[in-house]
Amino acid sequence: MRNWVLITGCSTGIGWALVPLCREAGWGVVATARNPAALSELPPGEDLRVLPLDVTDAGSIAAAAAACADLRLKALVNNAGYGQVGPLELLRPEELRAQFETNVIGLHAVTNAFLPLLRREPGARILQVASMLGRLSIPLAGPYNASKHAVVALAESLRLEVGRDVAVVLVEPGAIRTAFRDTLAEAWGDLPDRARGTRYETVLARYLAKRKDQAERFAMDAETCARKLLKALNARHPPRRVVIGRDAFWVGKLKALLPASWWEGLMRRTYGLE
Ligand SMILES: NC(=O)c1ccc[n+]([C@@H]2O[C@H](COP(=O)([O-])OP(=O)(O)OC[C@H]3O[C@@H](n4cnc5c(N)ncnc54)[C@H](OP(=O)(O)O)[C@@H]3O)[C@@H](O)[C@H]2O)c1
Repeated sequence: MRNWVLITGCSTGIGWALVPLCREAGWGVVATARNPAALSELPPGEDLRVLPLDVTDAGSIAAAAAACADLRLKALVNNAGYGQVGPLELLRPEELRAQFETNVIGLHAVTNAFLPLLRREPGARILQVASMLGRLSIPLAGPYNASKHAVVALAESLRLEVGRDVAVVLVEPGAIRTAFRDTLAEAWGDLPDRARGTRYETVLARYLAKRKDQAERFAMDAETCARKLLKALNARHPPRRVVIGRDAFWVGKLKALLPASWWEGLMRRTYGLE
């Protein structure tokens, strides 16, 4: 009997890269996506189950949990998420709500739906994919920062509550080369129109251009990142935190070391907000 892992958000990026790595390592994988057609290129096999799963849809979560009842589900990777960026001054409440619906409420709902299955397996684990922006906040990404801080807080409480039965691992990547930065622009909506004529117009244009450029130059590739998740899936003693990338490691250290006013000055200068 093989052990199974369910991964959310497998259509692209880290989730997509993790599926074959887990299969090669002997896991059975429940690969999920909002649109399962996005997974049609995955080689079929007895070690693969493809399911539709939208983390904002309670019915879809319940159906996925029911479809896994016969499996030895030993791990859950809550990976699905997107980045809502934009200056808070211009942000609509519904945009903040939507960000939390996916990144926070969705992750929570999926966790609770699968906990009863995970509890059956000794050594089971949940990987909650947060971000380096779950520990520090940058300007122009307030909704995303807030959602990932919430993921960190939920994971730390959950670990205290269920950690003796199911290990809770916080995954905290820095910049990873995925579709993430393309979907930033989608979530963006009509924000450029709202920014027109405000102090944010040029700041935002520069931010978007720079983010993409930086990601292409410095970001880690999705497969290298996925390998770090696989290590936590396979670990005999799962770690509490997996910090991924030199940026995630050093920027966190820098913030802890610098006086607050220096850190804020650095952030304002970096993002053209002086
Ligand atoms: N890339 C980075 O620099 C970075 C850094 C730190 C943390 N992260 C985190 O890593 C995770 C994976 O992101 P990624 O970089 O691999 O980006 P990605 O390539 O954009 O992948 C995100 C995945 O989440 C899925 N998703 C979005 N909303 C969903 C929903 N309501 N239900 C189910 N799936 C949904 C997307 O599916 P669709 O195709 O259906 O949209 C996609 O499969 C996210 O939680 C992200 O916040 C990324």
